[in-house]
Amino acid sequence: MTIINKIIDGKMYAQKLLGEIHPLSKGFLHNFNRKPCLTVILVGDNPASKIYVKNKILVAKKIDIESKEILLSSDITEDELIDHISILNKDQNVDGILVQLPLPKHISEKKIINIISPSKDVDGFHPKNFGKLFMGDPKFIPCTPLGCLYMLKHEIEDIKGKNAVIIGRSNIVGKPMASLLLSSDCSVTITHSKSTNIEEHTKKADILIVAVGIPEMIDEKFIKQGAIVIDVGINRLESKNNDNFSNKGVLVGDVKFEKVLKIAKKITPVPGGVGPMTIACLMHNTVKAAYINKKNDFINVLEGIL
Ligand code: GUN
Repeated sequence: MTIINKIIDGKMYAQKLLGEIHPLSKGFLHNFNRKPCLTVILVGDNPASKIYVKNKILVAKKIDIESKEILLSSDITEDELIDHISILNKDQNVDGILVQLPLPKHISEKKIINIISPSKDVDGFHPKNFGKLFMGDPKFIPCTPLGCLYMLKHEIEDIKGKNAVIIGRSNIVGKPMASLLLSSDCSVTITHSKSTNIEEHTKKADILIVAVGIPEMIDEKFIKQGAIVIDVGINRLESKNNDNFSNKGVLVGDVKFEKVLKIAKKITPVPGGVGPMTIACLMHNTVKAAYINKKNDFINVLEGIL
């Protein structure tokens, strides 16, 4: 297999999914005289969060989803943020609400996630949606793990019975990813920062999902020959010289790409792997929320995935 065939093209899969969603957002506009609407709240000026939010808004525009951005100062109080969300919860013209994480330390993320109406929770982080996912009856599924599953289901002919190992136990990626893979009949292991000998587990992984947030932590020693590796990490390294990347730094994942590429059967790159799929899944969840909130059926474009 050539190297190029080993690289899982997240941009291509995102275009495919967006291409399936776009007719549905256009259909929504035709039927209800407005576009599906996503409102994104960004608190403070975390540079990475600003880029993520900008990209979400850009993609929404391309596929006829209206997007609104609410920018709030980092010293906003928890109660003030809750007031903003309560207004959006009641607004019939807002279908999806996303509060970009992380939030400043003085605001409880748990409290904020609990306030968002479960029917507008396009992140799938509300306990009601989280619970439904784990009960095998998902409504809104967190976007990053959903995007990973989408790529895996397209890349692997029969996922049943595979050994899947996840590094990272966050509510955003690790835990929901485990639930999705369990529902896909994988044998699932979750490892994390306190696990002893992570390598022992990852060496047995047919599917390895890496979401640790440590730049290039996973090298070829962790990988079973022929594994499928999904790198969720997005880390910006300061560049020492100014040539290719100016002084903005270079993006790397949690996986040492060039080394692991030699051992793995398939691997997602950073950038161009999981990132575009996360955004595409957010658009999917937003259009789904729009239809459901209008008490209309939503055509399941994820048939065969879930
Ligand atoms: N921060 C990093 N990933 C995410 C995500 O998927 N949703 C939100 N709301 N914040 C994030």
